[in-house]
Amino acid sequence: MSAQAYDPLADQRTPEGPQFDVFLAGTVFLDIVFTGLPAMPAAGTEIWADGMGSCPGGIANLAIATSRLGLRTSLAAAFGDDDYADFCWRTLAEQESVDLSRSRRFENWHSPVTVSMAVDRDRSMVTHGHSAPMAASDMIGAPPRSRAAIVTLSAEEPLGMPGKCNWAEKAQLDGALIFADVGWDPSGAWSAALLEQLAVCHAFMPNAVEAMAYTGTDSPRDALYAIADRVPLAVVTDGANGAMAIDSLTGEEAFVPAPRVTALDPTGAGDVFGAGLVLGTLCGWPLADRLAFAGVCSALAVQQFGGSLAAPGWGDIADWWHEVRAAAGHSGAYGDSLARRYGFLDKLVPTDPVGAVRRAAATIARQADVGMAPRTPGKPPARTAAEASGGPESATADGPPDEPEDPNTHRVPAQKE
Ligand SMILES: Nc1ncnc2c1ncn2[C@@H]1O[C@H](COP(=O)(O)OP(=O)(O)OP(=O)(O)O)[C@@H](O)[C@H]1O
Ligand SMILES: [Mg+2]
Repeated sequence: MSAQAYDPLADQRTPEGPQFDVFLAGTVFLDIVFTGLPAMPAAGTEIWADGMGSCPGGIANLAIATSRLGLRTSLAAAFGDDDYADFCWRTLAEQESVDLSRSRRFENWHSPVTVSMAVDRDRSMVTHGHSAPMAASDMIGAPPRSRAAIVTLSAEEPLGMPGKCNWAEKAQLDGALIFADVGWDPSGAWSAALLEQLAVCHAFMPNAVEAMAYTGTDSPRDALYAIADRVPLAVVTDGANGAMAIDSLTGEEAFVPAPRVTALDPTGAGDVFGAGLVLGTLCGWPLADRLAFAGVCSALAVQQFGGSLAAPGWGDIADWWHEVRAAAGHSGAYGDSLARRYGFLDKLVPTDPVGAVRRAAATIARQADVGMAPRTPGKPPARTAAEASGGPESATADGPPDEPEDPNTHRVPAQKE
Protein backbone atom coordinates (compact mmCIF):
# COMPACT_ATOMS: atom_id res chain seq x y z
CA MET A 1 0.00 0.00 0.00
CA SER A 2 1.55 3.31 -0.94
CA ALA A 3 1.45 6.36 1.29
CA GLN A 4 -0.90 7.99 -1.17
CA ALA A 5 -3.34 5.11 -0.96
CA TYR A 6 -4.66 6.21 2.43
CA ASP A 7 -7.66 8.43 1.85
CA PRO A 8 -8.63 10.73 4.72
CA LEU A 9 -11.62 12.04 2.75
CA ALA A 10 -12.96 8.59 1.87
CA ASP A 11 -16.26 9.12 3.65
CA GLN A 12 -16.96 12.34 1.72
CA ARG A 13 -16.49 10.94 -1.74
CA THR A 14 -19.43 10.39 -4.05
CA PRO A 15 -19.52 9.72 -7.79
CA GLU A 16 -20.87 13.26 -8.37
CA GLY A 17 -18.30 14.90 -6.07
CA PRO A 18 -15.35 16.99 -7.26
CA GLN A 19 -12.68 15.13 -9.19
CA PHE A 20 -9.91 16.70 -7.10
CA ASP A 21 -9.46 17.87 -3.54
CA VAL A 22 -6.82 20.47 -4.36
CA PHE A 23 -6.08 22.41 -7.52
CA LEU A 24 -3.10 24.70 -7.75
CA ALA A 25 -0.95 26.48 -10.31
CA GLY A 26 2.52 28.00 -10.34
CA THR A 27 6.11 27.55 -11.43
CA VAL A 28 7.98 24.27 -11.01
CA PHE A 29 11.75 24.61 -10.60
CA LEU A 30 14.34 21.90 -10.73
CA ASP A 31 16.06 22.27 -7.38
CA ILE A 32 19.58 21.03 -6.82
CA VAL A 33 20.93 21.44 -3.34
CA PHE A 34 24.36 20.94 -1.91
CA THR A 35 24.45 20.06 1.77
CA GLY A 36 27.13 19.57 4.38
CA LEU A 37 29.23 22.48 3.18
CA PRO A 38 31.78 23.70 5.71
CA ALA A 39 31.25 27.31 4.56
CA MET A 40 30.20 29.26 1.49
CA PRO A 41 32.88 29.11 -1.20
CA ALA A 42 35.15 32.12 -1.17
CA ALA A 43 35.45 34.06 -4.42
CA GLY A 44 37.61 32.20 -6.92
CA THR A 45 37.61 28.89 -5.01
CA GLU A 46 35.97 25.49 -5.36
CA ILE A 47 34.73 23.48 -2.41
CA TRP A 48 33.21 20.02 -2.19
CA ALA A 49 29.83 19.32 -0.68
CA ASP A 50 29.24 16.13 1.30
CA GLY A 51 25.81 15.65 -0.17
CA MET A 52 23.58 16.62 -3.03
CA GLY A 53 19.92 16.19 -3.78
CA SER A 54 17.66 16.96 -6.70
CA CYS A 55 13.93 17.32 -6.80
CA PRO A 56 11.10 19.39 -8.24
CA GLY A 57 10.71 22.65 -6.31
CA GLY A 58 8.63 25.83 -6.27
CA ILE A 59 4.92 25.04 -6.49
CA ALA A 60 5.80 21.32 -6.58
CA ASN A 61 6.51 21.56 -2.84
CA LEU A 62 2.90 22.32 -2.09
CA ALA A 63 1.52 19.83 -4.62
CA ILE A 64 3.62 16.99 -3.22
CA ALA A 65 2.77 17.94 0.37
CA THR A 66 -0.99 17.77 -0.31
CA SER A 67 -0.73 14.59 -2.38
CA ARG A 68 1.29 12.81 0.30
CA LEU A 69 -1.48 13.56 2.80
CA GLY A 70 -3.91 11.74 0.54
CA LEU A 71 -5.50 14.79 -1.05
CA ARG A 72 -6.19 14.26 -4.74
CA THR A 73 -4.11 17.02 -6.19
CA SER A 74 -4.04 18.58 -9.64
CA LEU A 75 -1.27 20.98 -10.61
CA ALA A 76 -1.13 23.35 -13.56
CA ALA A 77 2.40 24.37 -14.46
CA ALA A 78 4.51 25.00 -17.52
CA PHE A 79 7.13 22.33 -18.23
CA GLY A 80 9.93 22.76 -20.71
CA ASP A 81 11.16 20.36 -23.38
CA ASP A 82 14.37 19.47 -21.53
CA ASP A 83 15.42 16.45 -19.48
CA TYR A 84 14.98 18.36 -16.21
CA ALA A 85 11.35 18.84 -17.14
CA ASP A 86 11.05 15.11 -17.91
CA PHE A 87 12.36 14.40 -14.42
CA CYS A 88 10.06 16.90 -12.70
CA TRP A 89 7.05 15.66 -14.65
CA ARG A 90 7.85 12.02 -13.91
CA THR A 91 8.46 12.64 -10.22
CA LEU A 92 5.23 14.55 -9.79
CA ALA A 93 2.98 12.37 -11.94
CA GLU A 94 4.34 8.88 -11.40
CA GLN A 95 6.07 8.95 -8.03
CA GLU A 96 3.87 11.46 -6.21
CA SER A 97 0.49 10.86 -7.89
CA VAL A 98 -0.05 14.53 -8.76
CA ASP A 99 -2.42 15.02 -11.70
CA LEU A 100 -0.81 17.07 -14.46
CA SER A 101 -3.71 17.11 -16.93
CA ARG A 102 -3.82 20.93 -16.72
CA SER A 103 -0.04 21.25 -17.11
CA ARG A 104 1.66 21.67 -20.47
CA ARG A 105 5.02 21.02 -22.05
CA PHE A 106 6.40 23.92 -24.07
CA GLU A 107 8.93 23.61 -26.86
CA ASN A 108 11.86 25.97 -26.86
CA TRP A 109 11.39 26.78 -23.19
CA HIS A 110 13.53 25.23 -20.52
CA SER A 111 13.00 24.41 -16.86
CA PRO A 112 13.79 27.10 -14.32
CA VAL A 113 16.64 25.80 -12.14
CA THR A 114 17.70 26.70 -8.63
CA VAL A 115 21.00 25.64 -7.14
CA SER A 116 20.99 25.95 -3.40
CA MET A 117 23.83 25.73 -0.93
CA ALA A 118 23.08 24.93 2.69
CA VAL A 119 25.53 25.94 5.39
CA ASP A 120 24.26 25.30 8.90
CA ARG A 121 20.68 26.52 8.69
CA ASP A 122 21.26 29.16 6.07
CA ARG A 123 20.72 28.60 2.42
CA SER A 124 21.98 30.65 -0.47
CA MET A 125 20.42 30.16 -3.86
CA VAL A 126 21.11 30.93 -7.47
CA THR A 127 18.22 30.69 -9.91
CA HIS A 128 17.99 30.88 -13.66
CA GLY A 129 14.79 30.80 -15.64
CA HIS A 130 12.53 32.59 -18.10
CA SER A 131 8.92 33.66 -17.64
CA ALA A 132 6.45 30.92 -18.46
CA PRO A 133 5.38 31.11 -22.11
CA MET A 134 1.73 31.44 -21.12
CA ALA A 135 -0.18 32.93 -18.19
CA ALA A 136 -1.60 30.29 -15.84
CA SER A 137 -5.22 31.25 -16.51
CA ASP A 138 -4.74 30.90 -20.29
CA MET A 139 -3.02 27.56 -19.91
CA ILE A 140 -5.68 26.16 -17.58
CA GLY A 141 -8.84 27.25 -19.30
CA ALA A 142 -11.64 25.75 -17.24
CA PRO A 143 -10.12 24.33 -14.06
CA PRO A 144 -11.19 20.87 -12.92
CA ARG A 145 -13.72 20.73 -10.11
CA SER A 146 -11.93 20.69 -6.77
CA ARG A 147 -12.71 21.18 -3.10
CA ALA A 148 -9.90 23.70 -2.60
CA ALA A 149 -7.65 25.95 -4.64
CA ILE A 150 -4.38 27.18 -3.15
CA VAL A 151 -2.99 30.49 -4.41
CA THR A 152 -0.17 32.86 -3.62
CA LEU A 153 -1.47 36.41 -3.67
CA SER A 154 0.34 38.50 -6.25
CA ALA A 155 -0.09 41.80 -8.01
CA GLU A 156 0.61 40.11 -11.38
CA GLU A 157 -2.34 37.70 -11.45
CA PRO A 158 -4.71 39.32 -8.94
CA LEU A 159 -7.91 37.86 -7.60
CA GLY A 160 -11.15 39.79 -7.52
CA MET A 161 -10.50 42.17 -10.42
CA PRO A 162 -13.74 43.38 -12.02
CA GLY A 163 -14.18 41.85 -15.46
CA LYS A 164 -11.32 39.39 -14.98
CA CYS A 165 -11.76 35.93 -13.58
CA ASN A 166 -8.50 34.14 -12.92
CA TRP A 167 -8.14 30.38 -12.58
CA ALA A 168 -8.67 30.31 -8.82
CA GLU A 169 -11.86 32.33 -9.04
CA LYS A 170 -13.14 30.00 -11.75
CA ALA A 171 -12.41 27.11 -9.41
CA GLN A 172 -14.21 28.97 -6.64
CA LEU A 173 -17.29 29.53 -8.80
CA ASP A 174 -17.30 25.76 -9.25
CA GLY A 175 -17.31 25.18 -5.49
CA ALA A 176 -13.65 25.37 -4.40
CA LEU A 177 -12.57 27.16 -1.23
CA ILE A 178 -9.64 29.46 -1.94
CA PHE A 179 -6.73 29.16 0.51
CA ALA A 180 -4.28 32.03 0.04
CA ASP A 181 -0.69 32.49 1.10
CA VAL A 182 1.65 35.32 0.32
CA GLY A 183 5.38 35.68 -0.19
CA TRP A 184 8.12 37.93 1.05
CA ASP A 185 7.94 41.35 -0.62
CA PRO A 186 11.48 42.10 -1.79
CA SER A 187 10.47 45.68 -2.68
CA GLY A 188 9.68 46.35 0.97
CA ALA A 189 6.42 48.05 -0.03
CA TRP A 190 4.14 45.45 1.68
CA SER A 191 1.19 47.11 0.00
CA ALA A 192 -2.01 46.66 1.98
CA ALA A 193 -3.83 46.77 -1.37
CA LEU A 194 -2.80 43.13 -1.85
CA LEU A 195 -5.18 42.20 0.96
CA GLU A 196 -8.17 43.41 -1.09
CA GLN A 197 -7.80 40.15 -2.97
CA LEU A 198 -8.85 38.31 0.18
CA ALA A 199 -12.45 39.30 -0.51
CA VAL A 200 -12.85 36.12 -2.59
CA CYS A 201 -10.78 33.86 -0.33
CA HIS A 202 -11.83 31.42 2.36
CA ALA A 203 -8.52 31.38 4.20
CA PHE A 204 -5.30 33.37 4.48
CA MET A 205 -2.24 31.82 6.09
CA PRO A 206 0.80 34.13 6.04
CA ASN A 207 3.72 33.87 8.43
CA ALA A 208 3.96 36.36 11.31
CA VAL A 209 6.42 38.70 9.59
CA GLU A 210 4.34 38.90 6.43
CA ALA A 211 1.11 39.18 8.40
CA MET A 212 2.34 42.12 10.47
CA ALA A 213 3.91 43.85 7.46
CA TYR A 214 0.81 43.64 5.27
CA THR A 215 -1.62 44.59 8.03
CA GLY A 216 0.59 47.32 9.51
CA THR A 217 0.42 45.79 12.99
CA ASP A 218 3.06 45.17 15.65
CA SER A 219 2.18 41.72 16.92
CA PRO A 220 1.13 38.43 15.33
CA ARG A 221 -2.11 38.51 17.33
CA ASP A 222 -3.07 41.98 16.12
CA ALA A 223 -2.23 40.86 12.60
CA LEU A 224 -4.51 37.85 13.12
CA TYR A 225 -7.44 40.07 14.10
CA ALA A 226 -6.85 42.31 11.08
CA ILE A 227 -6.85 39.27 8.79
CA ALA A 228 -9.93 37.83 10.49
CA ASP A 229 -11.75 41.02 9.47
CA ARG A 230 -11.20 39.94 5.86
CA VAL A 231 -11.47 36.13 5.63
CA PRO A 232 -13.52 33.45 7.39
CA LEU A 233 -10.40 31.45 8.27
CA ALA A 234 -7.46 33.61 9.40
CA VAL A 235 -4.18 31.91 10.29
CA VAL A 236 -0.82 33.35 11.30
CA THR A 237 2.12 30.97 11.46
CA ASP A 238 5.04 31.82 13.68
CA GLY A 239 7.86 29.39 13.03
CA ALA A 240 8.98 27.33 16.02
CA ASN A 241 6.44 29.17 18.21
CA GLY A 242 3.51 27.55 16.44
CA ALA A 243 0.41 29.07 14.90
CA MET A 244 -2.79 30.92 15.80
CA ALA A 245 -6.09 31.13 13.99
CA ILE A 246 -9.65 32.37 14.03
CA ASP A 247 -12.45 30.59 12.19
CA SER A 248 -15.40 32.94 12.15
CA LEU A 249 -17.64 30.37 10.46
CA THR A 250 -17.33 27.93 13.36
CA GLY A 251 -16.71 30.59 16.01
CA GLU A 252 -13.40 29.04 17.08
CA GLU A 253 -10.14 30.72 18.03
CA ALA A 254 -6.97 28.76 18.78
CA PHE A 255 -3.26 28.99 19.43
CA VAL A 256 -1.26 25.80 19.11
CA PRO A 257 2.46 25.62 19.93
CA ALA A 258 4.70 23.76 17.49
CA PRO A 259 6.14 20.39 18.54
CA ARG A 260 9.73 20.84 19.71
CA VAL A 261 12.08 19.55 17.06
CA THR A 262 15.57 20.22 15.79
CA ALA A 263 15.00 22.02 12.53
CA LEU A 264 17.62 21.14 9.96
CA ASP A 265 15.97 23.12 7.21
CA PRO A 266 12.97 25.23 8.18
CA THR A 267 12.50 26.50 4.64
CA GLY A 268 9.29 25.23 3.12
CA ALA A 269 7.58 24.78 6.47
CA GLY A 270 4.83 27.15 5.37
CA ASP A 271 3.83 24.98 2.41
CA VAL A 272 3.63 21.79 4.43
CA PHE A 273 1.69 23.62 7.13
CA GLY A 274 -0.72 24.89 4.46
CA ALA A 275 -1.22 21.38 3.12
CA GLY A 276 -2.12 20.13 6.61
CA LEU A 277 -4.47 23.02 7.21
CA VAL A 278 -6.30 22.43 3.93
CA LEU A 279 -6.70 18.75 4.78
CA GLY A 280 -8.03 19.47 8.27
CA THR A 281 -10.44 22.06 6.95
CA LEU A 282 -11.77 19.79 4.20
CA CYS A 283 -12.22 17.09 6.83
CA GLY A 284 -14.18 19.51 9.06
CA TRP A 285 -11.95 19.09 12.13
CA PRO A 286 -12.00 21.46 15.11
CA LEU A 287 -9.68 24.43 14.63
CA ALA A 288 -7.17 23.40 17.32
CA ASP A 289 -6.82 19.95 15.71
CA ARG A 290 -6.29 21.53 12.30
CA LEU A 291 -3.49 23.73 13.65
CA ALA A 292 -1.95 20.84 15.58
CA PHE A 293 -2.05 18.58 12.53
CA ALA A 294 -0.54 21.22 10.24
CA GLY A 295 2.07 21.84 12.95
CA VAL A 296 3.20 18.23 13.16
CA CYS A 297 3.34 17.95 9.36
CA SER A 298 5.68 20.92 9.16
CA ALA A 299 7.65 19.83 12.26
CA LEU A 300 8.33 16.51 10.52
CA ALA A 301 9.35 18.29 7.32
CA VAL A 302 11.78 20.74 8.93
CA GLN A 303 13.76 17.84 10.36
CA GLN A 304 14.70 16.82 6.82
CA PHE A 305 16.82 18.65 4.36
CA GLY A 306 14.38 19.08 1.61
CA GLY A 307 11.60 21.02 0.01
CA SER A 308 9.09 18.90 -1.82
CA LEU A 309 10.44 15.49 -0.90
CA ALA A 310 10.80 16.38 2.79
CA ALA A 311 7.01 16.45 3.18
CA PRO A 312 5.65 13.71 5.42
CA GLY A 313 3.31 10.95 4.38
CA TRP A 314 0.80 9.23 6.64
CA GLY A 315 3.40 6.62 7.53
CA ASP A 316 5.65 9.32 9.00
CA ILE A 317 2.75 10.82 10.92
CA ALA A 318 1.69 7.41 12.24
CA ASP A 319 5.25 6.60 13.38
CA TRP A 320 5.53 9.95 15.16
CA TRP A 321 2.20 9.52 16.90
CA HIS A 322 2.97 6.00 18.04
CA GLU A 323 6.20 7.25 19.60
CA VAL A 324 4.43 10.15 21.34
CA ARG A 325 1.72 7.87 22.65
CA ALA A 326 4.23 5.30 23.88
CA ALA A 327 6.22 7.99 25.72
CA ALA A 328 3.19 9.56 27.40
CA GLY A 329 3.12 9.10 31.16
CA HIS A 330 6.89 8.86 31.50
CA SER A 331 8.26 11.76 29.48
CA GLY A 332 7.23 14.69 31.65
CA ALA A 333 4.65 17.40 31.20
CA TYR A 334 5.76 18.21 27.66
CA GLY A 335 5.26 14.62 26.50
CA ASP A 336 1.88 14.46 28.24
CA SER A 337 0.84 17.71 26.65
CA LEU A 338 1.74 16.41 23.19
CA ALA A 339 -0.15 13.18 23.79
CA ARG A 340 -3.23 15.12 24.94
CA ARG A 341 -3.10 17.60 22.08
CA TYR A 342 -2.66 14.94 19.43
CA GLY A 343 -5.09 12.40 20.86
CA PHE A 344 -7.31 13.00 17.82
CA LEU A 345 -4.70 11.22 15.68
CA ASP A 346 -5.74 7.92 17.25
CA LYS A 347 -8.84 7.94 15.08
CA LEU A 348 -6.95 9.07 12.00
CA VAL A 349 -3.62 7.42 11.55
CA PRO A 350 -3.95 4.37 9.36
CA THR A 351 -3.94 1.16 11.33
CA ASP A 352 -2.40 -0.76 8.41
CA PRO A 353 1.23 0.08 7.76
CA VAL A 354 1.61 2.54 4.90
CA GLY A 355 4.58 2.64 2.56
CA ALA A 356 7.34 5.12 3.17
CA VAL A 357 7.60 8.17 0.96
CA ARG A 358 10.69 8.71 -1.11
CA ARG A 359 13.29 11.35 -0.37
CA ALA A 360 15.42 13.12 -2.91
CA ALA A 361 18.04 11.29 -4.91
CA ALA A 362 21.36 12.88 -5.62
CA THR A 363 21.12 13.26 -9.36
CA ILE A 364 18.41 13.14 -11.93
CA ALA A 365 20.45 10.88 -14.19
CA ARG A 366 20.48 8.04 -11.73
CA GLN A 367 23.02 5.86 -13.47
CA ALA A 368 25.28 8.66 -14.57
CA ASP A 369 28.13 8.42 -12.11
CA VAL A 370 27.85 4.83 -10.97
CA GLY A 371 31.31 3.35 -10.84
CA MET A 372 33.06 6.61 -11.51
CA ALA A 373 36.27 7.13 -9.63
CA PRO A 374 36.08 9.80 -6.96
CA ARG A 375 37.63 13.09 -7.93
CA THR A 376 38.83 13.74 -4.44
CA PRO A 377 41.62 11.43 -3.27
CA GLY A 378 40.53 9.39 -0.31
CA LYS A 379 36.86 10.14 -0.78
CA PRO A 380 34.44 7.39 -1.75
CA PRO A 381 32.79 7.59 -5.14
CA ALA A 382 29.87 9.93 -5.18
CA ARG A 383 26.66 8.09 -4.34
CA THR A 384 24.23 8.75 -7.07
CA ALA A 385 20.98 7.40 -6.09
CA ALA A 386 18.55 7.72 -3.45
CA GLU A 387 18.65 7.35 0.01
CA ALA A 388 15.29 5.98 0.36
CA SER A 389 13.36 5.56 3.45
CA GLY A 390 12.33 1.99 2.96
CA GLY A 391 10.07 0.10 0.63
CA PRO A 392 11.13 -2.11 -2.23
CA GLU A 393 10.51 0.62 -4.80
CA SER A 394 13.13 2.68 -3.03
CA ALA A 395 16.04 0.50 -4.13
CA THR A 396 18.67 2.66 -5.71
CA ALA A 397 21.38 2.38 -8.26
CA ASP A 398 24.24 2.18 -5.82
CA GLY A 399 22.78 1.85 -2.37
CA PRO A 400 20.62 -0.74 -0.68
CA PRO A 401 17.07 0.32 0.05
CA ASP A 402 17.47 0.09 3.78
CA GLU A 403 20.72 1.94 3.97
CA PRO A 404 20.72 4.25 7.00
CA GLU A 405 19.65 7.74 6.15
CA ASP A 406 22.31 10.37 6.07
CA PRO A 407 20.51 13.64 6.53
CA ASN A 408 23.42 15.53 5.05
CA THR A 409 23.53 13.51 1.93
CA HIS A 410 20.27 13.48 0.13
CA ARG A 411 17.68 15.82 1.55
CA VAL A 412 16.69 18.61 -0.71
CA PRO A 413 15.55 22.00 0.41
CA ALA A 414 13.65 23.82 -2.22
CA GLN A 415 11.17 26.50 -1.52
CA LYS A 416 10.45 29.70 -3.22
CA GLU A 417 7.67 32.00 -2.33
N1 LIG B 1 11.78 25.27 13.83
C1 LIG B 1 10.53 24.79 13.81
N2 LIG B 1 10.13 23.84 14.67
C2 LIG B 1 8.88 23.35 14.66
N3 LIG B 1 7.93 23.74 13.79
C3 LIG B 1 8.27 24.68 12.90
C4 LIG B 1 9.57 25.26 12.86
N4 LIG B 1 9.59 26.18 11.86
C5 LIG B 1 8.36 26.18 11.33
N5 LIG B 1 7.55 25.29 11.95
C6 LIG B 1 6.14 25.02 11.68
O1 LIG B 1 5.82 25.47 10.38
C7 LIG B 1 4.84 26.51 10.45
C8 LIG B 1 5.15 27.51 9.35
O2 LIG B 1 6.43 28.08 9.59
P1 LIG B 1 6.73 29.62 9.37
O3 LIG B 1 5.85 30.43 10.26
O4 LIG B 1 8.19 29.80 9.49
O5 LIG B 1 6.21 29.82 7.88
P2 LIG B 1 6.94 30.40 6.59
O6 LIG B 1 7.85 31.52 6.99
O7 LIG B 1 5.90 30.66 5.60
O8 LIG B 1 7.80 29.20 6.15
P3 LIG B 1 8.64 29.13 4.83
O9 LIG B 1 8.55 30.45 4.14
O10 LIG B 1 10.01 28.79 5.32
O11 LIG B 1 7.98 28.04 4.08
C9 LIG B 1 4.90 27.05 11.86
O12 LIG B 1 3.67 27.59 12.26
C10 LIG B 1 5.26 25.79 12.65
O13 LIG B 1 4.10 25.03 12.90
MG1 LIG C 1 5.14 31.24 3.86
